[in-house]
Amino acid sequence: MLIIYFDTLTYSLCYCNLTYLILIKFSDFQSAPNSKAHGKSIPMKPPTQNIFVIVGAQWGDEGKGKITDFFAGKTDYVVRFQGGNNAGHTVIVNDETFKLHLIPSGVLYPNPVSIIGNGVVVDPKVLLAEIAGLQKRGVNPNLLVSDRAHVIMPYHIDMDIAITEHQGALAAGSTKRGIAPVYADKMYRHGIRMIDLLEPEIFREKLEKSYLFNKNLAEKSLGGKISSSIESIYADYLEYGKQLKKYIADISTILYNAKKAGKSILFEGAQGISLDVDHGIYPHTTSSNTAAGNMAAGCGVSFTKIDKIVGAAKAYVTRVGISPFPSEIEGEEAKSLRDKGNEYGTTTGRPRRVGWLDLVQLRQAVRVNGLTDIALIKLDVLNGFKKLPVCIAYDVNGKIITEMPASLSDYRNAKPIYRTLSGWDEFNVENGSDFSSLPKNILNYINFIENEVDCPITIVSVGPQRHQTVIK
Ligand code: GDP
Ligand code: IMO
Ligand code: MG
Repeated sequence: MLIIYFDTLTYSLCYCNLTYLILIKFSDFQSAPNSKAHGKSIPMKPPTQNIFVIVGAQWGDEGKGKITDFFAGKTDYVVRFQGGNNAGHTVIVNDETFKLHLIPSGVLYPNPVSIIGNGVVVDPKVLLAEIAGLQKRGVNPNLLVSDRAHVIMPYHIDMDIAITEHQGALAAGSTKRGIAPVYADKMYRHGIRMIDLLEPEIFREKLEKSYLFNKNLAEKSLGGKISSSIESIYADYLEYGKQLKKYIADISTILYNAKKAGKSILFEGAQGISLDVDHGIYPHTTSSNTAAGNMAAGCGVSFTKIDKIVGAAKAYVTRVGISPFPSEIEGEEAKSLRDKGNEYGTTTGRPRRVGWLDLVQLRQAVRVNGLTDIALIKLDVLNGFKKLPVCIAYDVNGKIITEMPASLSDYRNAKPIYRTLSGWDEFNVENGSDFSSLPKNILNYINFIENEVDCPITIVSVGPQRHQTVIK
């Protein structure tokens, strides 16, 4: 990617590939300039921290991977801070598709260091496969994994199946990657961390407790089955530890020093606000805090000055898994939206449920995450719809609700109240278009959302590739 600076370093022309140009306002996303004096690097001014966070503003799969990749080329570090390989983030560059589950979406650039923070839960087998898959395609991940990150064990995956069965209608429809059981073991305080895989005696001591706990619970109480023996797990995971040793590091210290040096850091969230274990539609959630505030705990450094917190939101809504979904649509209209948007899960391949944009949900995303910006994604999928209903509130047994309730029965009874806006026809924004070149009805759609949720939409995505992005 060739970058030309002009206009006192305020704007950059990025040649994202040979064919397309995008004009990006870059002033708030640059490293502080340094000068060399007496052989020592002296900052010309105190380092300006460039901290940028991207989180999901709906039910996940909003396009966080694409937006992260779009910005990652100019950052020093790209950091995942929660979730695990329940995530599936798609990045398409020059018609090549990469599906990332654990490694941050900045990995396709040579410069940024990809970091998996302590708040992430790591399946080492999946991580090794992801590294090998990237290497096979010519990408050598510049990766570090927190020594404190908890490890997903085979019995967590068996337990995930057993608890989902047990929870019945209260289950979230998990991705069966062992997410709830591994976070539960962390909280029980018999979890296994990446560092333990490097210490055979400690690993054995912890594994015996954790294995037995899960085996008893799964087999005696839940009617499940733990498939692997403790001996095979012990041998396999020590081997994974050997293979991953070169990546395992004290992330907190590394990011603390990066912070002091004024390096730019991009945090990439996984899942979305409605899956947040506290603020989502509990218990139909994942088991981590997806909200931006979790980044400090999830990487071990507190950042007090954050430049941007961007909420990725689809221009409509999708949901993989089980929960009330007030603005869900069904039938032919749903099928047409699902097929047009190719709404099939990146991780499990499950068809995604689809619905109209829900501003009650987005309002909460703005509030809880402290969003400074919204990236509105997949606007192209709405091309050709004559009318676009937007859910502005819920009617719960005759009461109008404009903020996400805590009550599960409120969700079960919530009926969407729509405002219907006019749609737009096919349009083309490639070759460096800006907001002014978007169709009038898209601008109306954008303005309507901004006013309803009190947050500017400054990034618009109109296709899955890097260059199909418009910045305000
Ligand atoms: P994530 O989990 O939030 O990173 O999102 P996923 O990768 O699971 O799902 C988003 C899907 O939408 C992927 O297949 C992307 O390639 C695709 N996508 C992203 N942005 C756009 C867009 O603006 N338009 C279209 N049509 N597809 C997009
Ligand atoms: P990304 O990062 C969409 C959903 C599952 C299920 C619930 C709990 O790609 O946006 P879990 O396996 O975490 O115990 O499942 O959360 N879910 C996701 N849905 N995108 C994701 O990640 C998801 N990660 C988990 O479908 O309803
Ligand atoms: Mg996804």
